[in-house]
Amino acid sequence: MASPAPIQIRFERFDGALGIAPASPPRVASEAEKPALLARITERLKALDAVLVAHYYVHPDLQDLAQATGGTVADSLEMARFGNAHPAKTIVVAGVRFMGETAKILNPEKRVLMPDLAAECSLDLACPADRFAAFCDAHPDRVPVVYANTSAAVKARADWVVTSSIAEKIVAHLHAQGKKILFAPDKHLGDYIRRVTGADMLLWNASCVVHEEFKAQQLEDMRRQHPGAKVLVHPESPASVIAMADAVGSTTGIIQAAERLKATEYIVATDGGILHQMRKRLPGVTFIEAPTAGKGATCQSCAHCPWMAMNGLHNLLDVLETGRNEIQVDPAIGVRARVSIQRMLDFASTHLPQLKGSGDA
Ligand code: 13P
Ligand code: SF4
Repeated sequence: MASPAPIQIRFERFDGALGIAPASPPRVASEAEKPALLARITERLKALDAVLVAHYYVHPDLQDLAQATGGTVADSLEMARFGNAHPAKTIVVAGVRFMGETAKILNPEKRVLMPDLAAECSLDLACPADRFAAFCDAHPDRVPVVYANTSAAVKARADWVVTSSIAEKIVAHLHAQGKKILFAPDKHLGDYIRRVTGADMLLWNASCVVHEEFKAQQLEDMRRQHPGAKVLVHPESPASVIAMADAVGSTTGIIQAAERLKATEYIVATDGGILHQMRKRLPGVTFIEAPTAGKGATCQSCAHCPWMAMNGLHNLLDVLETGRNEIQVDPAIGVRARVSIQRMLDFASTHLPQLKGSGDA
């Protein structure tokens, strides 16, 4: 079966201009092909002493495979922690490029492979390292804190890296020390953290192409149609959508909130890939994807990350058979980026010890 044609993703750049990036969906595995593909991938993972670390947004086949082979399905913080703690010689990251780079930065001696190295993130694309450095230079009185969804070079320029599961705690910690913060690149996450912590935060201007599309008006209509449903929202969403949430959290935080709130119906404002784990953990509970651009929606504005969707069984097997798509990070940049990532992991080990993905040791 041929690979579907690439699509063009439009995203807002830091300067408000339109950025355009391609995303190529992978060759889709048919039901008939799957058993042999899964068996071969499992065999190759063992032969290479490799572990599969997947994000909740990738295809359910990859999520199940990661869990079945001793890997994990997790949010971006736990993906970093799990890969770092695991003894495997090769880490295979099913996610987007910044996740593979983070694995490599933390484990420079290991091989890190990805099914497709062109799996980008609109936040990373909208925060070029030279512009970010200039932003930091213009505000030397502020502590640079960056979201994990950034390049290695941006992380190298920052004091702290955060993910959505730990951002609030780290910013509150810095705020308590009287520090002023410069935050990049996600303006919605930054704005949310600023509101809940009261910290003095100067924000970069970028957003996630997926979460930006959730619409408060349509969500209100949906909530009226499902009066018993609780609303779970990822903090990359606009403030008007966050305002309607019963719980706001990282992908792991959203799953944990569904377990905690004990509703029978949830409306979920994040990439629909997460529903696979939610349905597995809470059978009998109804999960509905939050609405995006309504009737005018195109496939670019539905709740599915086009870059996460670039991970498939065929291209995963291909990298395991050929060694193609190895992540490389300039060692000089990696050494500096590691400091800010490690700072986050050390902080998480004392302030967020309960964090786990799905299927972890
Ligand atoms: P999490 O860290 O919550 O998994 O978020 C990563 C991401 O890219 C969400 O769009
Ligand atoms: Fe980036 Fe958004 Fe895709 Fe997450 S969902 S990887 S933030 S583009």
